Amino acid sequence: MTTQIYYFTGTGNSLWAARKLAENLDNARLISLAADYQVTDNAAAQIIGLVFPVHIWGLPRIVIDFTKRLNSNSAKYYFALAVNAGQVAATLLQLQNILSDKGLALNAGFSLDMPSNYIPWGGAIAENKQQNKFRRSEEKIKHIAEIIKEQRNLAPEKGPLWQNIIFSFFYRKSFPHIHKMDKSFWADDKCTDCRICEKICPAHNILLTEGKPSWQHNCEQCFACLQWCPEEAIQYGKNTQKKKRYRHPEIKLKDMLASVSAK
Ligand SMILES: Cc1cc2nc3c(=O)[nH]c(=O)nc-3n(C[C@H](O)[C@H](O)[C@H](O)COP(=O)(O)O)c2cc1C
Repeated sequence: MTTQIYYFTGTGNSLWAARKLAENLDNARLISLAADYQVTDNAAAQIIGLVFPVHIWGLPRIVIDFTKRLNSNSAKYYFALAVNAGQVAATLLQLQNILSDKGLALNAGFSLDMPSNYIPWGGAIAENKQQNKFRRSEEKIKHIAEIIKEQRNLAPEKGPLWQNIIFSFFYRKSFPHIHKMDKSFWADDKCTDCRICEKICPAHNILLTEGKPSWQHNCEQCFACLQWCPEEAIQYGKNTQKKKRYRHPEIKLKDMLASVSAK
C-alpha cells in the first residue's frame, strides 16, 4: 500500500508531524507542496494525506491550490492532519468541502496541537511546554497511523460551533488579503544580506534589493522568513523585535531549504 504525504510548513511543525506519521506507516513518501507546487499527477498512491498548518482558522492558499489540482485515479483513501496551536476551528470541514466538490471524500481529518509560530500574538512558549506538546502529539500520531493503516472513516475533527462560525467569518474576510499582509514585514539593521529569507520562502515572495529583503505581495503568511532569520533581523509590525523566535527543534535549516524548490 503506497501512501503519499504532501506537506507544507513554515517553522517545521508540519514537517515533523509528517515525518513521524511516515515512520509509523509502511511505504509512505513525503512530498513538499512548496517543492512540488506544480504536481498534478498523484496517480501512484493508494492513500493520499495532507499535513499543513492552520492559518487564520482555515487552509493556507497553497493547500487549497494543491487540493483543487489533486488528480488521482488510484487513491481510495484521503486523510489530513491540520497542525495548529489549539484552534483548528472549521479548517478540516473546509478541506472536506473542497474535496467533495471534486467528488472525493476526506476519509479522516485530524487536529494536532503544536506550539504557535504566530509571533504577533506572542513569542515561542517555554521549552518544557513545547516538549509537552511534542510528546502528546507523538502519541496522537501513533494512534492516527493505526487509523490510516486500517483505512477507517472518521468525521473530521473541528472546533466548537461558535468558534467555527465566528472564526470562519474572520477567515473569509482576511483570505483575499493574505497575499499582501507581507506589507508588515521589514528587516532591521541586523540584516546581513545572507539571503536565507529569500531561499526559504515557499512562495518565492522575497527579493533582495539593495541588500535588504523586499516582499512581493504573494505571501503565504507562514512566517518562515521571520522565524528562520539567523540574525532575528526580520520583524512584523511594531512589536516583534523582543519576542522569542520559534522553530521546531528537530527540524533544521537544511530540511527547510530542501523542501522549497528552486525557482
Ligand atoms: C498566519 C498564521 C495564522 C495562524 N492561525 C492559527 C489559527 O487560526 N489557529 C491555530 O490554532 N493556530 C494558528 N497558527 C499557528 C500555527 O498553525 C501553528 O503554530 C502550526 O503548528 C505551525 O506549523 P508549521 O511550523 O508547520 O508552519 C497560525 C500561524 C500563522 C503564522
